Amino acid sequence: MSGHATPVPMTSHRSGPLSGRADVPGDKSISHRALILGALCVGETVITGLLEGEDVLDTAKAMRAFGGEVTRDGDGTWHVHGVGVGGFAEPEQVIDCGNSGTGVRLIMGAMATSPICATFTGDASLNKRPMARVTDPLALFGAQAVGRAGGRLPMTVVGAAEPVPVRYQVPVPSAQVKSAVLLAGLNAPGETVVIEKEATRDHTERMLAGFGAEVTTEVTEEGRVITLTGQPELIPQSIVVPRDPSSAAFPVCAAIITPGSDVLVPGIGLNPTRAGLFTTLREMGADLEYENLREEGGEPMADLRARFSPDLKGVDVPPERAASMIDEYPVLSVVAGFARGKTVMRGVKELRVKESDRIEAMAAGLRAGGVTVEDGPDWWIVHGLGHGNVPGGQTCSSHLDHRIAMSFMVMGMATQDPVSVDDGSPIATSFPIFEPLMATLGADIRRG
Ligand code: S3P
Repeated sequence: MSGHATPVPMTSHRSGPLSGRADVPGDKSISHRALILGALCVGETVITGLLEGEDVLDTAKAMRAFGGEVTRDGDGTWHVHGVGVGGFAEPEQVIDCGNSGTGVRLIMGAMATSPICATFTGDASLNKRPMARVTDPLALFGAQAVGRAGGRLPMTVVGAAEPVPVRYQVPVPSAQVKSAVLLAGLNAPGETVVIEKEATRDHTERMLAGFGAEVTTEVTEEGRVITLTGQPELIPQSIVVPRDPSSAAFPVCAAIITPGSDVLVPGIGLNPTRAGLFTTLREMGADLEYENLREEGGEPMADLRARFSPDLKGVDVPPERAASMIDEYPVLSVVAGFARGKTVMRGVKELRVKESDRIEAMAAGLRAGGVTVEDGPDWWIVHGLGHGNVPGGQTCSSHLDHRIAMSFMVMGMATQDPVSVDDGSPIATSFPIFEPLMATLGADIRRG
């Protein structure tokens, strides 16, 4: 899909206690990777718990275009018959990745070391996002890319016919860039090495190892040095996708700011490279517990229990935690509005190049709802008003960004007046059951 034809305005009204169980969908990052790696091995990979949001469905479509067979059973189990490392076919049509930066960047990596050509596009949000961060390292393998000014989509990538392995230090903290290089390295002979100064989500490394690739991570003075031996024969897997901590963030934060709430969010992936929000919420004084801690499919997980927390205080979020909660700053900024004192968020430049400029989008909406926000290139500060004191009453622009739309819907559950967004349709990219799920808990979100 490309662009959301009809905007869906939504309004969130002050809600009664939220209670019950929130079964959030599968992890978006892991879902993309399961489809892509499934398509890169010969034989059948079986995936349960796949996120069936637009972003991931676009990746499923893309894997079919590259020659994979991707089907879904009536019970929601997905089957991928892959083509093997280096076996991608040249797509006949343009690959439309919709709203998904992860989808397009990982797929570009996966095809960049095969002798094929593909043209990629996306919706109005994705077509504004920087792609050079991925095509620069892919050029080192021998791939070529031509796109619009500033390295924007639509863009054509010509894969390297005789790829060479690379050693690449990722200049920005980005799991998408790291993963694109590793996926390209799969079809290069010899060792591809990626170095990251700050730890970003490591689902690609974990899953590559699960599929039988030789991949090691060493922590050195340079940072994390990840070494992948190219041209492995990947072995098809059975993958159970954990539920997405980035989606869990919304019912968890809603419960924390809504009086009387007590919500259980079961089976949440708690990979330490993803769990920074929950650490931060606890530091703010949130009543948040991990129950039933366990490990499944190589990923730690737990049931989260979140209760209304009337005495939240503002905190300084350490910049070194940013990568582990990068998608959660929008909803954290909402919670910060209900805390007493200021919440300082630094080292978050990457927020400016997500589905929207998330600092600008949240700051504008929070200010319109009566919350003071200061911001600079890579930092922002929210001056919390304390529970019960946030006016609300504003209409916010979601900027084609699912997390902005959901964050403002959470805000409206505890403000004095309702909070609206101009377009909630992007929510379907990552959390298609957001509205019915929040309604079951007792939230009052209305369309219009
Ligand atoms: C993702 C990485 C992050 C994150 C995105 C998903 C991934 O992006 O914001 O939602 O699955 O690798 P960056 O790698 O650009 O930080």
